[in-house]
Amino acid sequence: MTATTTSTTTPAPLRVAVLVGSTREGRFAPVVTRWVKGHLDQRDDMEVDVVDLAETPLPTVLPAFGQPPAPGTMEALAVVTPRLAAADAFVFITPEYNHSYPASLKNAIDWHNEQWHAKPIGFVSYGAISGGLRAVEHLRVVMAELNATTIRNTVSLHNAWGLFDEAQEMTAPESDAAVKTMLDQLAWWALALREARSARPYAA
Ligand SMILES: Cc1cc2nc3c(=O)[nH]c(=O)nc-3n(C[C@H](O)[C@H](O)[C@H](O)COP(=O)(O)O)c2cc1C
Repeated sequence: MTATTTSTTTPAPLRVAVLVGSTREGRFAPVVTRWVKGHLDQRDDMEVDVVDLAETPLPTVLPAFGQPPAPGTMEALAVVTPRLAAADAFVFITPEYNHSYPASLKNAIDWHNEQWHAKPIGFVSYGAISGGLRAVEHLRVVMAELNATTIRNTVSLHNAWGLFDEAQEMTAPESDAAVKTMLDQLAWWALALREARSARPYAA
């Protein structure tokens, strides 16, 4: 009888890029980002890189087909693109603007393509009564075009500013539980897809 062998090797930590979508002056995004990063920092299976689009602005003029970006554009992309390429998974932090997501986030998405391929994306959204859910549903369609897979569970903060206390700590245990569940789902997909990409390059 052949003994069943199981690997005891612990996988390398999953590299999770947290993409902060709002670049608005006076934005609420840092409060939400700090909370999400706190959850990520508690995990042994993930290491986090916060890519804040307000700190790493990208031009909005795309180059002509087949042409390289302008020189200044290359420098701006060099701060963002390698970090997206290195990621095993993403968390998009997005508010809702006019029933969708901010133009700054779409711009960052459109500057890239293969950096998204065969990778999972979890969403944390916030806004007024909708909690950003319409922004997330739009993002799911867009990211499918870019060969990414999106995590089923959305973390959605309705009237988000009322959920944090004066110290900017989350006061709703159900929101903490929602982040944990989403990150658990993200981890499963991130590991599965990292192994798959390693075994077979993804053919878009
Ligand atoms: C241009 C604009 C449009 C907005 N549209 C919506 C909306 O359609 N639905 C909603 O729930 N909140 C909407 N809001 C409220 C934002 O979701 C809320 O102010 C949030 O804090 C914005 O994120 P930020 O502060 O990180 O930029 C809008 C805010 C802005 C600035």
